[in-house]
Amino acid sequence: METIKVRDKEFEVYLEETKIQQRIAEIAQDINEEYASKNPLFIGILNGSFMFASDLMKAVNVPSEIAFIRMASYKGMESTGNVKQVLGLQENVFGRHLILLEDIVDSGLTMEEVIKFFQERGPKSIRIATLLLKPEKLEKDLKLDYVGFEIPEKFVVGYGLDYNGHGRNLKDIYQLKEA
Ligand code: IMP
Repeated sequence: METIKVRDKEFEVYLEETKIQQRIAEIAQDINEEYASKNPLFIGILNGSFMFASDLMKAVNVPSEIAFIRMASYKGMESTGNVKQVLGLQENVFGRHLILLEDIVDSGLTMEEVIKFFQERGPKSIRIATLLLKPEKLEKDLKLDYVGFEIPEKFVVGYGLDYNGHGRNLKDIYQLKEA
């Protein structure tokens, strides 16, 4: 089993590049069939989704566009904790078929915020594609239309996912090694 070190932690291979690419090809195939004449606008959620967005887009062959947003945390005025804000959207999404691209859905909080943001802007439809899902951690009632892999509740890194900013460049996805 190939293990690597990212910062101070040991990780072992969990999903290999070929497996990831195969699954992405399947998702792209579904999208190609379902969005043939819809000119979807993909919305990549940075930073984590950049590799997934890139590989998925290469396998999509229907006319489509892509834009990226990022989520920024800020303290609410009443300091009720962290509120998240969507930054960076330039495109008009009114009347568009949106496909939101995320690297991983964990509690689902981030995705819920992103969906709310887009729902207020009048798109024709919103679907979600996430490469990874941790079903045991999911707290929100979300309809996740395309899920690459359901994974256990362990921390993962690689293929866009980071550990304290590191490891995003890895081709495979690694899981935290038990101590
Ligand atoms: P949620 O809002 O709890 O669903 O968390 C989603 C965000 O948490 C993702 O976009 C990731 O940035 C981060 N995240 C959750 N689990 C992991 C993990 O196992 N590895 C790296 N990042 C993660």
